[in-house]
Amino acid sequence: MTATTVGFVGLGAMGQGMAGSLLRAGHAVRVWNRSPGPVAALAARGAEPAGSLAEVFAADTVVSMLADDAAVERLLLDPGLLAGATATLHVNMATVSVALAERAEALHAEHGVGYLAAPVLGRPPVAAAGRLNVLAAGAPELLARAEPLFAAMGERTWHFGDRPRQANAAKISANFLLACAIESMAEACTLAEGHGVRPGDLIGMLTATLFPGPVHTGYGAMIAERRYEPAGFRLPLGLKDVGLALEAGAAQHVPLPFGGILRDAFLDALAHGDGDKDWSAVAEVARRRAGLSD
Ligand SMILES: NC(=O)c1ccc[n+]([C@@H]2O[C@H](COP(=O)([O-])OP(=O)(O)OC[C@H]3O[C@@H](n4cnc5c(N)ncnc54)[C@H](OP(=O)(O)O)[C@@H]3O)[C@@H](O)[C@H]2O)c1
Repeated sequence: MTATTVGFVGLGAMGQGMAGSLLRAGHAVRVWNRSPGPVAALAARGAEPAGSLAEVFAADTVVSMLADDAAVERLLLDPGLLAGATATLHVNMATVSVALAERAEALHAEHGVGYLAAPVLGRPPVAAAGRLNVLAAGAPELLARAEPLFAAMGERTWHFGDRPRQANAAKISANFLLACAIESMAEACTLAEGHGVRPGDLIGMLTATLFPGPVHTGYGAMIAERRYEPAGFRLPLGLKDVGLALEAGAAQHVPLPFGGILRDAFLDALAHGDGDKDWSAVAEVARRRAGLSD
């Protein structure tokens, strides 16, 4: 175990590509995942499989990309694990709650481990290409130390403050806006379709005029074509992020009326069996509400 090894926890759709980017940049990477398949795939690319989380936290720096608060809480906010850690920095890159970031910062500090929040913008192919946008916050000296890792995984790092929770607030706000864009495009397409206009024609006009850019172009095409598989960002993760926005809003008395609408639309989609699809499948809820047939 060398002092420059990066420990990586969570090799899901995003984590696999991010760990791969670290390897490509020449870092020694020690990987751990709940299910073994992705560990073997990364080991074939030169990563060192870790037998336990304690081995991961024996690296110099730990990067984690787990699904949600529950997974981070259960696996990593473990006083025993942190007390035994020789790692001096943990960079949590998952989209988790502001409240969890506060608890994590305090618990890591108790055990002398630095903690940064650095959630990302970009879907799995962007992660695999090392072209994420990294939304980072925490102590400036820790941010400087993590920057070579961010540079390997992303094309730009954005700083949001010296408290980790500020990066989580920025990421949650960004995903809230994305969810609103998806829902509003779905409703607009349904309105057009209700009057016999092809959704693809509407999206084609809008993305060439008023709404250029990756969000309306990418999700607009998926909604117009009703193409929700394979999922780039699974619908349950979208529901999680809407919940994070509502929770973060409540904590600061920030009403988010659209948040309630989004939560119910995502629940409706899950109730109709769309949990394995991309979160843009929430567009089917708008169609059902309008009585549009398949
Ligand atoms: N996908 C995107 O487009 C995207 C974009 C930006 C940010 N994000 C955020 O990035 C994070 C990861 O997303 P993802 O798309 O990579 O998700 P994912 O494919 O579902 O992977 C989730 C990872 O967390 C692990 N995990 C989940 N629950 C666990 C538990 N209870 N115990 C142990 N491990 C657990 C999974 O292990 P297994 O492999 O064993 O299931 C896997 O490694 C999320 O916070 C997400 O919101 C995703």
